[in-house]
Amino acid sequence: METLDLVESAKNAREKAYAPYSNFKVGAALLTGDGRVFTGCNIENAAYGDAICAEKVAIIKAISEGSCDFSELVVVADSEEPSSPCGSCRQILFEFNPDLLVTMVNLKGDKMAMKVKELMPYAFALRHGNKLL
Ligand code: THU
Repeated sequence: METLDLVESAKNAREKAYAPYSNFKVGAALLTGDGRVFTGCNIENAAYGDAICAEKVAIIKAISEGSCDFSELVVVADSEEPSSPCGSCRQILFEFNPDLLVTMVNLKGDKMAMKVKELMPYAFALRHGNKLL
C-alpha cells in the first residue's frame, strides 16, 4: 500500500466525520503489518469533551481487530498547514510503534512526514527508563 493510497483512504474517511461543533473534519488511515488499512474520522458530541479523534478511531479499530503492528499513518484535514495528531493520540501511537511514520496532509496537498518519536520526544513509557510498578 502506497502513501498516496493511504491519503485517498484518509480523505474518504474524513468525509464521514461527525464534527458539527468544530466544523473541523479529520480523516485517518492506518496501515498495519499484515497489509490491512484501518480508517477513522473524528466524532464529536454535544458534551464537547467526549469528542473522539480520527486517529484514535483508526487505532481502536485496528487493535480490536487484532492488528497492533502499525506501519504507517496518514492524517488529513482541511487546514492551512498539515494538521498533526494531538498529544493523547501521539502517546497511544508511541506505545505501539515509536518509529511509526506519520504523514500529515491538507486538502491543498501540502505534506509533512515525521516519526512518532520525533512528534513525541521523551514520551512516557514504562519500558523506556520509567520504573515498572
Ligand atoms: N481532532 C482529530 O480528529 N485529530 C487530531 O489530531 C486533533 C483534533 C478533532 C477533534 C475535534 O473533533 C476536532 O478535531 C477539533 O478539535
